[in-house]
Amino acid sequence: MEVVTREMGADDLPAVVAIESASFEDPWTLEMFSDELVQALSWRAVSVVSGVGVVGFLIGRRYPDMWHLMDLAVAPDRRHRGVGGRLLADFLRAADVAGRRVMLEVRRGNARSVALYEAHGFAPLGVRRGYYTDTGEDALVMAREVGGRWRNADTSSRLLGPLLAIESSCDDSAAAVLTPQGEVLASVTHSQDAIHERYGGVVPEVASRAHVERMTAVVSEALRQARCGVDDLGGVAATVGPGLIGALLVGVQTAKAIAWVRHLPFFPVNHIHGHLAAVWLADRRAPFPMVTLVASGGHTALIRVDDGGTFRLLGQTLDDAAGEAFDKGARLLGLGYPGGKELDDLAERGDASAFSFPVGLKRSARPDFSFSGVKTALFYLLREMTAKERAERAADVAASYRQAIVDALVSKAAGAAEREGVETLAVAGGVAANSLLRRRIVEVGQAVGLHVVVPPFAYCTDNAAMIGAAALGGPMLEYPHYLAVDASASLSLGQWSVSQPGRIAPQP
Ligand code: KG4
Ligand code: ZN
Repeated sequence: MEVVTREMGADDLPAVVAIESASFEDPWTLEMFSDELVQALSWRAVSVVSGVGVVGFLIGRRYPDMWHLMDLAVAPDRRHRGVGGRLLADFLRAADVAGRRVMLEVRRGNARSVALYEAHGFAPLGVRRGYYTDTGEDALVMAREVGGRWRNADTSSRLLGPLLAIESSCDDSAAAVLTPQGEVLASVTHSQDAIHERYGGVVPEVASRAHVERMTAVVSEALRQARCGVDDLGGVAATVGPGLIGALLVGVQTAKAIAWVRHLPFFPVNHIHGHLAAVWLADRRAPFPMVTLVASGGHTALIRVDDGGTFRLLGQTLDDAAGEAFDKGARLLGLGYPGGKELDDLAERGDASAFSFPVGLKRSARPDFSFSGVKTALFYLLREMTAKERAERAADVAASYRQAIVDALVSKAAGAAEREGVETLAVAGGVAANSLLRRRIVEVGQAVGLHVVVPPFAYCTDNAAMIGAAALGGPMLEYPHYLAVDASASLSLGQWSVSQPGRIAPQP
């Protein structure tokens, strides 16, 4: 499709009005567009396909102090082919040349447009409540500084010193220091397991307080081990979600405060991207694309990773996370807290064929998981046993139970990798510390010719080195444009802020 961009003329108006009406619930009228044709400050461009006519347009205002993007629309049958992106890029290039910042309003729920603007360097500035009178919807106000506000980081050439990364999404306070090239200089983790043990689970408020108490010491220790002062740093990264909101806030505020006082860039990181990055942190030569199984206490998902910033969810758990299944099993067996490791250790001494547990969604071709059945089966099995039997057969029970969980994880992961035709199969997350899972994934993956990555233990459970590695492939916010970036309890894959609904997309 040969697309030419030129200035809008009176003859274009019928087509422009038609595209406008097909695009918005409260369209501009013909009169409004006619006014733009004679407005001195107006920027008016149309995209034209020969033999077809006008397929898109952009209206902007070049005010003396800043430029305003007023209207951008593409004909429904021409969308997602880069027409809007090109109109926008022309306008932004001119704004850059003029040295002007650009503002716009967009419907808050319009994820696709917000993603397009973010990809072109806009960042959210605020919200105008009920701005759109037809639906009462909020407008997201976005601004783009000259040259774009963030850049998808090819950071190694732009980071002027080591990166400090902070993780506090759950019950581990962690800090790490990485070189701009991604080499880990130090990684310090303070686990709160001993604190939450007596409650049998993570108590969010207790976790937040513990983070407040430890964070400074953990950061100082990481800097000390890296032989690096705050003044040497080139940037600061932190997990902004998903996780426990109070816990996240401690890490985000610590990181932003350090970045702010030293005028450093800030790197917001999605915790799941961190687990995925543990794979290339452990094996720099692992070829993309890859399918990674992320299995932790809070998540169990199969994700296709095309590069350091392109992710697609293939399947996930329909109920419990794999780590939860291990922890609940450990609890039923009277083992320690959180229990996954204890159950694993006990299982190493047992006979996995002693008992038969249901493997969730075994016959389904879907790459999803379900662990509630195996957990319930364990409950009933133990209930039927005498105390003596439970003690004598504990290792066999643990081994059989572990096998059912690992079978589900490995078969779904290998199946997904084969279906996706990827080069690499990897595991990440706390459950990737499981010894049977580590052995089986290597056997099964290598049998079908895949490159298999099983990161070292320290990069499987929550840590800040993986957050730093993810930061280096994600967005970088220059000082001081990150002050409004907040922690969010729920972020989907591809998101690093709630106001950024899609992944940081290539041009639609
Ligand atoms: O990734 P992680 O440190 O924290 C979350 O983000 O959840 O994962 C912790 C989970 C816990 O459920 C823990 O019991 C489990 O990982 N885990 C294990 C093993 N080591 C840790 N599960 C099975 N076998 C292990 N060896
Ligand atoms: Zn985690």
